[in-house]
Amino acid sequence: MPFTKIIGSGSALPENVVSNDVLAQQLAEKGIETSDEWIVTRTGIKQRYIADSHIKTSDLATQAAQNAIKEAGIQVEDIDLIIVATSTPDHIFPSTACIVQSKIGNKGAAAFDVQAVCSGFVYALTTADSYIRAGNAKCALVIGAETFSHIIDWQDRSTCVLFGDGAGAFIVKASDEPGILSTQLNADGSLHTILHAEGTICHGKVQGDPFLRMDGQAVFKKAVVSLEQSALEVCKKANIASTDIDWMVPHQANVRIIQSLARKLNIDENKVVITVDHHANTSAASVPLAFDVARKDGRIKSGDKVLLQGVGGGFTWGSVLVQM
Ligand SMILES: CC(C)(COP(=O)(O)OP(=O)(O)OC[C@H]1O[C@@H](n2cnc3c(N)ncnc32)[C@H](O)[C@@H]1OP(=O)(O)O)[C@@H](O)C(=O)NCCC(=O)NCCS
Repeated sequence: MPFTKIIGSGSALPENVVSNDVLAQQLAEKGIETSDEWIVTRTGIKQRYIADSHIKTSDLATQAAQNAIKEAGIQVEDIDLIIVATSTPDHIFPSTACIVQSKIGNKGAAAFDVQAVCSGFVYALTTADSYIRAGNAKCALVIGAETFSHIIDWQDRSTCVLFGDGAGAFIVKASDEPGILSTQLNADGSLHTILHAEGTICHGKVQGDPFLRMDGQAVFKKAVVSLEQSALEVCKKANIASTDIDWMVPHQANVRIIQSLARKLNIDENKVVITVDHHANTSAASVPLAFDVARKDGRIKSGDKVLLQGVGGGFTWGSVLVQM
């Protein structure tokens, strides 16, 4: 069976950067109190990128995809599988993957979305790995892309300070050289109410609450426990110790979750990629965005063992262990 090798990555962020101070000022005008100090202390977030309302998830996804295609040095027509992980799709249907396919000019590849919220990218990457190892695809475009700012209740200070918009993309290819070493996906649907956006469209009207809602403390506790178990599971499958990991690229939601996880896994903090300060929580985009930053700045190198981890609504979580 071939390995699935990452041969390129790319990312995209909206132009509009909103610092904590600017956000606090905007919220104060609506009578909502927050501060840079509160946000940094509780989450590590210093700023986020916010898309204008006319920017769609597929716009960011397409830009990230084009950057990844360029870096991988492949032709658009080489891609035979496109998976977009998103919880903020452009439309009910068709999938955002089909919109991206049209925008990049690919014809014929299988294209579909994966919806596993902040675990979406590891779910999508694991799906692409299964296709490639089974011989059903040779070259896949895997994207995590979100415009969460469009589903945030900007009156709710307990959530609106946490999220941002963006996209990250991988090109993965069948290879004889080691690539993805092991994967693990899990979900516990009984916890669907701790992080959800439950609105639906029926007879042309939004029914129920259209905004993201979260029990922050329940999510925090479940995230740390799940990610620790999942990391140990992928290491066991690949027959390595957690201390053999060169780079940990966890979901970027909260720096305290990340630090607590690294401590439990005995992974040195300087082997952990942290971009939540810069990007905030971009849901399915967070892992490929963080990976792309660390690859472009030279931290992640050829041969490194990298642990990618997602966790979020569903409740879902998962890990991908990859050798670069
Ligand atoms: C959301 C989170 C930062 C909140 O931190 P916390 O320490 O649990 O804070 P609490 O919710 O207990 O709130 C503490 C106080 O801060 C207040 N508060 C909430 N948001 C605030 C804000 N933006 N600014 C100022 N105060 C705020 C609360 O109203 C509460 O005030 P009270 O004590 O007077 O009632 C934290 O729970 C968290 O990070 N959870 C995980 C969230 C996450 O990562 N989700 C995505 C996973 S995919």
